[in-house]
Amino acid sequence: MAGLIDQIEPLKQTALAELKSTADLAALEQTKGAWLGANGKFTALMKQLGTLPKEEKPAAGKLINITKIALEAALAERRTELELKAALPKEPTDFTLPGRRRALGKLHPLTQVTEDIVRSFRKIGFVVADGPEIEDEYHCFDALNTPADHPARDTQDTFYLNALGASRSESHSAGETPAARSLLLRTHTSSVQIRVMKSQPPPVRIIVPGRVYRRDNADATHNPTFQQIEGLYVDKGVTVGDLKGTVEFVFKELLGRDVKIRFRPHYFSYTEPSFEIDFSNALVKKLGKDWLEIAGCGMVHPQVFENVGYDPEVWTGWAFGFGIERIAMIRYGINDIRLFYENDVRFLRQF
Ligand code: DAH
Repeated sequence: MAGLIDQIEPLKQTALAELKSTADLAALEQTKGAWLGANGKFTALMKQLGTLPKEEKPAAGKLINITKIALEAALAERRTELELKAALPKEPTDFTLPGRRRALGKLHPLTQVTEDIVRSFRKIGFVVADGPEIEDEYHCFDALNTPADHPARDTQDTFYLNALGASRSESHSAGETPAARSLLLRTHTSSVQIRVMKSQPPPVRIIVPGRVYRRDNADATHNPTFQQIEGLYVDKGVTVGDLKGTVEFVFKELLGRDVKIRFRPHYFSYTEPSFEIDFSNALVKKLGKDWLEIAGCGMVHPQVFENVGYDPEVWTGWAFGFGIERIAMIRYGINDIRLFYENDVRFLRQF
């Protein structure tokens, strides 16, 4: 039966072509079954071998075996190819795309401004001092010559934390020394002046960056929490000229050479004389203003020196305090203080 042997080669070619064109491993398994499975086309051919005349069997059997081995080899080869293909990424890789990188965090704009201010003061010999945010009335007010009945306390109303549960008015109306010890969130960094002077003899040359609290409702220029930086310089023969020169130096470093500074008489209970510092530059002009109030300052009040045990006949000094947000707002042209506290990365990323 020459028919059987003649069928082998064409069947082999068809099978090889089908194996080659399989698209994935599942298709390959299917094709394998269709040819070499129990009911496969090639298996059927092998089964026909038994029907051949005896003398034709050896040659036909040999050819069938060789063909089967060739098919199995082709199957294995295609399987390797398809396995490799399956392991590759589905999407073609675009090597021109920017790489994936871990997003690097940044310092908050207020931290950046604070660090710049600190750097400027370090150049002229100041060191950073620190104090607690939970203060007592003594360090925050009384020792700064602001007794309980002083109207300046109203403008710096804050959050009181009274361990005994006494209300604020009770502790105030008492008007005695124990009331001076009730706890509060500090309204200014000036409290650290007292802590530092009480802990060391003069001279003193410190700056104090830190968080302060007031009972203000949040709006574009107010936030119940904000940052200040305090400066205190105590030595012999210190003058307002030193204060002005220092402030001018630091502001020029921070905000550029075209900065102008103006001192305006003011009142603070812990300085005499006292001033407010106004500041002007191109940016302030752009806001349609000539001057922007930026800080309070003055010559340390003799009573404050008495309170900390410094002899006011020997020692002189100046102090100042300003809001860090204000400076950051001028520097970056930000019009709402609340942006600093919302932690919106779209805002923070810009600095
Ligand atoms: N403590 C004042 C405030 O929070 C700012 C200030 C004014 C600080 C005068 C000073 C100073 O050291 O001398 O508004």
